[in-house]
Amino acid sequence: MNATFGKTDLVTSPIVYGCMGGAGAFGAQEEKDSIEALREAFNVGINFFDTAEAYGAGYSEQLLSQALGDKRSELVISSKVARENLAPDDIITACERSLKNLGSDYIDLYMLHWPNRDVPLADSIGALKKLKEDGKIRYYGVSNFGSLDIDDALALGEISVNQLPYHLFFRAIELEVLPKCEAAGVPIMCYSSLMQGLLAGKYKSLQDFPVSRARTRMFDYRKWAEVTHKEEGAEEAGQELLDALWKMTEDTGLSMEELAIGWLKAQSAVGGVIVGTRNGQQSRDLKKLLDIKLDESVLNALTAASDRLKTELGADIDMWGKGRTR
Ligand SMILES: NC(=O)c1ccc[n+]([C@@H]2O[C@H](COP(=O)([O-])OP(=O)(O)OC[C@H]3O[C@@H](n4cnc5c(N)ncnc54)[C@H](OP(=O)(O)O)[C@@H]3O)[C@@H](O)[C@H]2O)c1
Repeated sequence: MNATFGKTDLVTSPIVYGCMGGAGAFGAQEEKDSIEALREAFNVGINFFDTAEAYGAGYSEQLLSQALGDKRSELVISSKVARENLAPDDIITACERSLKNLGSDYIDLYMLHWPNRDVPLADSIGALKKLKEDGKIRYYGVSNFGSLDIDDALALGEISVNQLPYHLFFRAIELEVLPKCEAAGVPIMCYSSLMQGLLAGKYKSLQDFPVSRARTRMFDYRKWAEVTHKEEGAEEAGQELLDALWKMTEDTGLSMEELAIGWLKAQSAVGGVIVGTRNGQQSRDLKKLLDIKLDESVLNALTAASDRLKTELGADIDMWGKGRTR
């Protein structure tokens, strides 16, 4: 059921469609599949679409316009300005570029994609305020802002969202930043909700996960070619969780996506659960996730099953361990 997003007057679906995959983030992608995926997501009842200038250098925003431009008034669109563009003039220019890509004269929710401590945050927020006053954006917020960065952002006034990595394989945000967001009434939009497909019920073992996606802090840098961090990971705890999830699919009759997304939807700090798809069929599968509500006993079992991994991974909220957050 759609609900008001935090303190805004945006009425949004609980599932947010994530547009990054359409720009080829997960490998070769046919444009017609991306367009169909977007239209089918809308057809099943999703009205909230998340994109960014960084996804394919504007291509993801253009695809959204191409697929659903005629439905603009029914959509809530969030987009993000890249971290290298956080100087005030650059934010204004980036927003104009995104508006052109989107074929729209406003963006509903506009975020700083990652913190950039080379630019005073007050200056970046000043530019967001100006865009809001000028009617170019309706609300603004941040993404990937950890415990200390969100303190700074909140001290500067109104922040309507913090978009963060959050899912059963990565609960780091619970340790510090989530309670702060919740106390301030700032909803979390969670990303990688399906752990880039690991929670889509396709993999029995972590070892089967594509090397190009096995880059998060859970994976041991000594074993995986595309990891850029220097951590030993927590693969034993990760495999233990994956095994427990498979067992729960048998015990409950629910799919892994239903367990993963149902658990996120039940977290009170979460205002939107972002899911990305690659084609029309995967988008049609989102329909069953819109209304999923898990029993308390299932929720508790999922939390318990992922506690060890959460403890082993600790509080660093940069899922890829690149040191960009604090
Ligand atoms: N703010 C940020 O810094 C940030 C960072 C990352 C992502 N995001 C946002 O979050 C969105 C989604 O996160 P994500 O891109 O990391 O991925 P995700 O939603 O965790 O996983 C997407 C993958 O799940 C698989 N999948 C989805 N539905 C499926 C189905 N019905 N059946 C089988 N497989 C299915 C697909 O895998 P296959 O490709 O194998 O088919 C798809 O590529 C992005 O599009 C973006 O909007 C934001």
